[in-house]
Amino acid sequence: MTDDVRKVIYTTVLVFVVGVLIWISFIFINACGFSFTCNQGKPLVERTPIPTVGHAPIPAFVNQDTSGKCQVRAVDLLEAWVTAGASDTKTFTFNDVNGNACEGNFSQDVHPLFAEANIWYSGAASCDSCHSPDLGKTSAANLDLTTYAGITAGSQRQAADAKGNDILGGGDWQNSKLYETLVSGPEITGHPQASAVGSAVIFAGKSTSEASAAGTPEATPGVEIARPSNPGGPGAAVTMTGDAQSGAQIFATNCAPCHGSQGAAGVPNPGSDDGSVPVLNPIDPTLKDPNYQTFATNVDLFIQHGSTPAGPDPVIKMPAWGDSGTLNQQQIADLIAYVISLNP
Ligand code: HEC
Ligand code: HEC
Repeated sequence: MTDDVRKVIYTTVLVFVVGVLIWISFIFINACGFSFTCNQGKPLVERTPIPTVGHAPIPAFVNQDTSGKCQVRAVDLLEAWVTAGASDTKTFTFNDVNGNACEGNFSQDVHPLFAEANIWYSGAASCDSCHSPDLGKTSAANLDLTTYAGITAGSQRQAADAKGNDILGGGDWQNSKLYETLVSGPEITGHPQASAVGSAVIFAGKSTSEASAAGTPEATPGVEIARPSNPGGPGAAVTMTGDAQSGAQIFATNCAPCHGSQGAAGVPNPGSDDGSVPVLNPIDPTLKDPNYQTFATNVDLFIQHGSTPAGPDPVIKMPAWGDSGTLNQQQIADLIAYVISLNP
């Protein structure tokens, strides 16, 4: 063999080996990025619908605490909620797939059906990715499914403060627009198919026997959370991190004149049923919640939108700090953190 032939053979082998290496790295980087802890197999969401095709095994719920939760068809959960009056504060009852009595509430069990991806089938977009608050521009059917206020305001709305067509059928599920679009009506592009809707089973709520055993007051059916008289959903403040120290200063200037120093003494309020402005320390127990996000939302609604207390002719009203623009969302987040810190 001549040197030339040898050279050609060696070069060919070298080029081949280098090529294979590049090819393997390309595939790895393509799938996993520049990281050795490849996350491709990891589930993306907490809630995974259970496939119900044939005898499909129930997937392993990684990091999800399903103990004491009920298994229910998502559409049955919606029906139970609508039929019970579609409240955002009161719990409602339903039967799980095994016929056991369970109870759920809007924020933990119903809201995710509109706000989370992968609920109705694996790979499904969240409802509110199309039905956003951006009415008149990008929100499909001028329907905002991001919040309770948006869901109950309905579809085909002319403006952000206008009511639209009720999609909940006034409590009559079978005749609601929601039932029609999900189950009985013609198919809409981007919506889950009726067959997918029919077979989507989720973990939600909790079995009533366990709820009474735990005896948690916030889960007691029928206890109504205090809500401001003025309408509106939570503000951006509830998604921000609040600084309680800065909140204390804002409170001293803006809130203490009515709620007292550190919220401990409400000034007299003639003409109101309570007779005085409520104290915030300790705060109304129905507003308190072990879940920070829920507690924050309960407080936020009052600060954003203000409220007129019950009574024949209350002299003092809670101002709408957010809606009026008197305080910005960061200041409100700080106030919420402070009010919560007063109520450990
Ligand atoms: C990919 C975008 C997209 C997603 C995701 C989506 N929708 Fe829709 N939705 C639409 C469009 C577009 C229409 C308007 C169809 C029409 O009227 O022609 C619509 C219409 C509706 C209507 C009827 C409103 C009316 O007055 O006619 C309801 C109710 C509705 N959607 C609920 C939902 C729910 C619940 C989900 C989640 C399960 C969902 N949508 C997910 C795009 C979407
Ligand atoms: C002008 C007097 C006034 C000021 C100032 C005021 N509030 Fe209020 N606030 C009220 C009244 C009156 C209510 C009761 C409303 C009702 O019962 O619907 C109330 C209710 C509340 C509630 C609900 C408490 C409950 O038990 O229902 C919260 C939370 C609250 N205020 C926070 C604040 C914060 C934070 C500030 C400062 C940014 C503030 N308030 C400033 C008068 C005031």
